[in-house]
Amino acid sequence: MTILISVAVITSIAAVLAIMLTLANSYIANYGECKILINGEKECITEGGSSLLSSLRDSQIFIPSACGGKGSCAYCKVKVLAGGGPVLPTELPYLSEQELRDHVRLSCQCKVKENIKIEIPEELFNVKEYKAVVEKIQNLSPTIKLLRLKLSDPAEITFKAGQYVQLKAPLYEGNDEEVYRAYSLASSKNDKGFIELLIGYVPNGICTTYVHKHLKPGDEVLFNGPYGDFYLRDTVKEIILIAVGTGMAPIRSILYQMESEDIDKRAFYFFGARTLEDLVLYEDMKDFENRLSNLKYYPILSRPREEDQWTGDVGRVTDLIKQHIEDGSNMEAYLCGSKAMIESTVEALKQKGVPEEAIYYDKFD
Ligand SMILES: Cc1cc2nc3c(=O)[nH]c(=O)nc-3n(C[C@H](O)[C@H](O)[C@H](O)COP(=O)(O)OP(=O)(O)OC[C@H]3O[C@@H](n4cnc5c(N)ncnc54)[C@H](O)[C@@H]3O)c2cc1C
Ligand code: FES
Repeated sequence: MTILISVAVITSIAAVLAIMLTLANSYIANYGECKILINGEKECITEGGSSLLSSLRDSQIFIPSACGGKGSCAYCKVKVLAGGGPVLPTELPYLSEQELRDHVRLSCQCKVKENIKIEIPEELFNVKEYKAVVEKIQNLSPTIKLLRLKLSDPAEITFKAGQYVQLKAPLYEGNDEEVYRAYSLASSKNDKGFIELLIGYVPNGICTTYVHKHLKPGDEVLFNGPYGDFYLRDTVKEIILIAVGTGMAPIRSILYQMESEDIDKRAFYFFGARTLEDLVLYEDMKDFENRLSNLKYYPILSRPREEDQWTGDVGRVTDLIKQHIEDGSNMEAYLCGSKAMIESTVEALKQKGVPEEAIYYDKFD
């Protein structure tokens, strides 16, 4: 009992101190105007006190931030050459020894409190914020919606099939913070005036609740992008495409690219879903077999229900790898899905001889 009371007292004191520090930081600390010098050439002026990530966003410089600044995705790394203060404990788990020596920081954790000098990849200067109007929201399954957006400003986007954008969820009833979340582009890169996203519902998720329960055709949305280095490499290797659930999104975009660029090499497409109703866009995906003569589409269900009357494969995408891939040494693989799916799939591919450096993936969580 005494130990429990002591723990409760210490925890309460720590919580009160943390709140006081946050309040002090918000209301007392006044850092004034600070300059951010980017790559030695571009200068932005910002009001000090915010994170480097949001200060840059306010200046229309967009850094990938798939977790929306929660400090858990490590996508928002930039080099801070001067003025970033000490590396915080929240950043350490995501930074290697080499990155620490190279002054790499998580821009969502690092605060702008003085003039600061940073370095970012040149291609991030091409990332833009887009205004778009919802043209269509289609229920593909009870938990997955296809969102088609018509771009209004700028009116067109250029991206590589496989890349993603960050959609802004605004304030709405039950949500008091604006957040950005990453969604892979599911449409053709040639369809420059529109984008399509496949958005799965996460119970109590801020952005997915916005899309699934609040967004309507005609509404205006904001997104920024494109981001990411998940795209089809220009090689002679045979291709394995693997997705589970909404992981289909970037693979669909890659299939459109293969069709439009006549990339008709031997390709396996393994897609995993739980039940028949989760096997979204089945006809669409099957039709790619008619348009790409060397593509073979293999859907698999992990938990078919009796009423599904499913006579196809049952199991996981890793079972399809074991079944259909003999020698993967001259193949490359593109994977999209949850962390657990990626880890098990990478292992199964390596066992079939697919070189680790020829396995590309985007983890969705
Ligand atoms: C590169 C990249 C591309 C992505 N592309 C897509 C895509 O095309 N389609 C898509 O639907 N999603 C995609 N995601 C995931 C997406 O960015 C969001 O994480 C997801 O939609 C949840 O956002 P939220 O705001 O609704 O939930 P949050 O408010 O962020 O989360 C609420 C709670 O749910 C948990 N949670 C978050 N995500 C999941 C999940 N997937 N499953 C179970 N629990 C979860 C969180 O830990 C938290 O506790 C992608 C992620 C990355 C990194
Ligand atoms: S935005 Fe995800 S860790 Fe910084």
